[in-house]
Amino acid sequence: MMQGKTVIVTGANSGIGKATAAAIVKLQGRVIMACRDQTRAEEAAQDIRQETGADGRQIMVKQLDLASLRSVRSFCEDIIKEEPQLHALINNAGVYQCPYTKTEDGFEMQFGVNHLGHFLLTHLLMDLLKRSAPSRIVVVSSKLYKHGDINFEDLDSEQFYDKAFAYSRSKLANLLFTCELARRLEGSGVTVNALTPGIVRTNLGRHVHIPVLAKPLFNLISRGLLKSPEEGAQTSVYLASSLDVDGVQGKCFADCKPLELLDKATDQEVASKLWDISEVMVGVRVLSRDKLRGGV
Ligand SMILES: NC(=O)c1ccc[n+]([C@@H]2O[C@H](COP(=O)([O-])OP(=O)(O)OC[C@H]3O[C@@H](n4cnc5c(N)ncnc54)[C@H](OP(=O)(O)O)[C@@H]3O)[C@@H](O)[C@H]2O)c1
Repeated sequence: MMQGKTVIVTGANSGIGKATAAAIVKLQGRVIMACRDQTRAEEAAQDIRQETGADGRQIMVKQLDLASLRSVRSFCEDIIKEEPQLHALINNAGVYQCPYTKTEDGFEMQFGVNHLGHFLLTHLLMDLLKRSAPSRIVVVSSKLYKHGDINFEDLDSEQFYDKAFAYSRSKLANLLFTCELARRLEGSGVTVNALTPGIVRTNLGRHVHIPVLAKPLFNLISRGLLKSPEEGAQTSVYLASSLDVDGVQGKCFADCKPLELLDKATDQEVASKLWDISEVMVGVRVLSRDKLRGGV
């Protein structure tokens, strides 16, 4: 049960995030849906209220665009002002294999939203999470991290853009972030763990082109083979709520069980260098990125 617990879920208007929000409400938790499109988010919140009988206090919407550091800052200012406690932050929102675009601050979109936006969000909410301890951070990654690398010399993909590589890189960054944050949170009463949800039937593939004629076959196959959003949300809900993972720090899970990661996702040196450069990119540390690239 999550009675009395306040939880933020990013990207909660769709797919895994929406199913996560609904499941937490069913456990009596209070959910703040952090979404970029207020209208879509209100519709999703209404669906959840209808499904669960929750009221507008137990499930509410707050605007957050992770492709804008300004929006992340303003979201966090409001949360810190309005919320006395925050018990779980679920970094779920994600963009997958979009064409080359940049965030408001000039970062490659997948790295900017999936990693940097959540990096700043977590940083700005950290004092509140610590004051609310025991509290938890849950990071939604993907097994596709295996195909990524943190190419520090071109994090903005200005020299070369491959949409699949950029997604995998952002999901590897989620795991390295978890690894470094866990080290920094030791003894704080705040835990961070990551997960890979499996292959789930959601709107994530919106940028992937499927020929019109192949669509019925694709839909048929995906209905049979892919997880439902509710099944895909199970590990997120488990990590946010279960007593089994009380005090567990810096691990990755799949299907509610620990998952062994490749060494590149737990490399402490790369994790720490990525942390430093991310601080500079989001503007919480002032240092030249060139200096960091060479120096750390
Ligand atoms: N589906 C899978 O098979 C699968 C597999 C491995 C990992 N994952 C991970 O699971 C997570 C959830 O994805 P999903 O499958 O549920 O996909 P989804 O249905 O497309 O949901 C993604 C959510 O992220 C939000 N989002 C995208 N850009 C954003 C931004 N700039 N600011 C705020 N929110 C933003 C979307 O908002 P809009 O609706 O407004 O676009 C949506 O609510 C992602 O991190 C994804 O990488 C999914």
